[in-house]
Amino acid sequence: MGRSPPAPPVTAASAARRAHYLAALGIDAYRSRHAPVAELQPAAEPPAGDAVAAFEPVSGADWGTLRERVAGCTRCRLCEGRTQTVFGVGDPRARWLVVGEAPGAEEDRRGEPFVGRAGQLLDSMLRAVGLARETVFIANVLKCRPPDNRDPRPDEIAACLPYLERQVALIEPRIILAVGRIAAQALLGSDAPVGRLRGRVHRHGAAQTPLVVTYHPAYLLRSPGEKRKAWDDLRLARSQLDGCGAH
Ligand code: URA
Repeated sequence: MGRSPPAPPVTAASAARRAHYLAALGIDAYRSRHAPVAELQPAAEPPAGDAVAAFEPVSGADWGTLRERVAGCTRCRLCEGRTQTVFGVGDPRARWLVVGEAPGAEEDRRGEPFVGRAGQLLDSMLRAVGLARETVFIANVLKCRPPDNRDPRPDEIAACLPYLERQVALIEPRIILAVGRIAAQALLGSDAPVGRLRGRVHRHGAAQTPLVVTYHPAYLLRSPGEKRKAWDDLRLARSQLDGCGAH
């Protein structure tokens, strides 16, 4: 993802607004967007009875309610620039959950994740391990497009992560494939680079779901020499299901 333009000057009013907003998300201090995702304060729900009543917890939401809540979300300012939210696509009972970073321009326009060039490569990667796109579920950490293709900011990730965590809980995947740094760090609460996180099986959440990290297809388009490692990662993920008769 590209770099954002320099941030506008911080006035007292904007600092107060930001502090109020971050407090509502359960984040007690602003962190630079360059801070590792692991430095996020709780990726949790705002506490019950919190001043910002609009941020109702989603921890008990069913699939339809969750979808509606995402569609109407105003938890962060990315809602102001979106054409639509991108909830995710595929089989809600899929064995495989693929998690990317955030919608880009094309995804924002079509309301579906991974539909650009990176999406085509992702589809090929999945096909290489015998998976059709419709048989997995594909989601992103962020449900709204960051402007100018910039990286998601920690506060945006903290605001949006409860939706992804609820998707994980409802889908109950047998394997999570985290593609790229943002997804890997957010799901694992780590600040390690992809190169250190890939190549082994992690466990995610209370269900201890196996999670494999691989390179983002957009990175692979720029660095095709790394495709071999991505192939190894996919085979590692696939091996988690071997013997279960599961695809
Ligand atoms: N499109 C998505 O939906 N997610 C990404 O991470 C990249 C492109």
